[in-house]
Amino acid sequence: MKSLIDTYTLNNGVKIPIIGFGTWQTPAGAIAKVAVKSALSSGYRHIDTAEMYGNEKSVGLAIKESGISRSSLFITSKLDNYAHSYEKATEAINKSLEDLQVSYLDLFLIHWPNPKAFRDEEWEKHLQDTWRALEDAYKVGKLKAIGVSNFKQHHFDILKQTQTINPMVNQIRVCPGDYNNKLIDYCKNEGILVEAYSPLGTGKIFKDKTIKLIAEKNDKTIAQICLRWSLQHGLLPLPKSIHEDRIEENSHLFDFELSTDDMTTIDKLEGIVGYVADPDLAEF
Ligand SMILES: NC(=O)c1ccc[n+]([C@@H]2O[C@H](COP(=O)([O-])OP(=O)(O)OC[C@H]3O[C@@H](n4cnc5c(N)ncnc54)[C@H](OP(=O)(O)O)[C@@H]3O)[C@@H](O)[C@H]2O)c1
Repeated sequence: MKSLIDTYTLNNGVKIPIIGFGTWQTPAGAIAKVAVKSALSSGYRHIDTAEMYGNEKSVGLAIKESGISRSSLFITSKLDNYAHSYEKATEAINKSLEDLQVSYLDLFLIHWPNPKAFRDEEWEKHLQDTWRALEDAYKVGKLKAIGVSNFKQHHFDILKQTQTINPMVNQIRVCPGDYNNKLIDYCKNEGILVEAYSPLGTGKIFKDKTIKLIAEKNDKTIAQICLRWSLQHGLLPLPKSIHEDRIEENSHLFDFELSTDDMTTIDKLEGIVGYVADPDLAEF
C-alpha cells in the first residue's frame, strides 16, 4: 500500500482503488461539486455516491469538469430503496447513468437488503429480482462490477438461491468500536471485498480519548489513524468531508504504519460510535 490509487482486485478481476471518497450528506449543488473536485485534486480516483444521496447530478458535473479521463476513475452508485423489483431497478440504473453522465458505472450496489416498504410482501423475492436486474446490467457492460450494502449473512443466503453471479462487494459500517468480525470474515471467505462506510463514525470518533492518544503517539490525526486501521485490516475505507483541508488530510495515510499493539488496542474498543442500524428493522 503506497498511494490512494493502489488497488484491490475484485472477484471478477476488476481493480478498485483502496480508498473511496464518500458523499453521503454532501448537499447537491456547489458544495458537492467543490468537494468532489477537491477530492480529485488531492488524488482520489474513487467516488462513492448513491441515488438516495440526491447528489448524483452534481457529482457527475464535478467529474466532467475535472477533465480526468473516465478510465482513470472508479465511480460507485447504489440503488434507492423504493426500486426493489426487476423493472424499477433497471430503470434506476439507467437514471444513475444519465444523472452521472456516464456510459457505465464501475460498481453498483443494492443499498439495503430489506427496505421497510417491502418487508411485509415477499421481500426475499423482491431482493432476488433486484439482483437479477443488476446481473443483467452487468452482462451488457453498463456496470463493471456489482455488489451489495448492509448485507448480513442471511441476506447473501437469499441471493444464493437464484443468483448467477456472486456479489463482488459488501459495503458495511466499519469504524473503531463497530467491527463485525463474523460478517467481515464471512465476506473475506466468500471472496467479497468489504468496503468500510462511516470509517470516522460519521464524525463521532473525534471525541475518543484512546484514538487521540494513539494519534499523538504516531504524530498523526485521529482521522488518519482510523483510516490506516481500516486499510491494515484489508478493508476499503470511504471517508467523507466537504472541507478541502480534511479531504487532503484523509489522503495522507502511506507514510506510517500502526504497530500490532496499536491495532490491538483499537480492535478492543467497543461501541464508542454506537452501532449500525439493523437492516431488517430499519425505518426506511
Ligand atoms: N452504504 C451505506 O448505507 C452507507 C451509509 C453511510 C455512509 N456510506 C458511505 O460512507 C461515506 C462515509 O461515511 P459517513 O458519511 O457516515 O462519514 P465519515 O466519513 O465516517 O465521517 C464524516 C464526518 O467526519 C467529518 N470529518 C471528515 N474528515 C475529518 C477530519 N479529517 N477531521 C475532522 N472531521 C472530519 C466530516 O465533516 P465535514 O464533512 O464537515 O468535513 C463528517 O462530519 C459516506 O459519505 C457514504 O459515501 C454508506
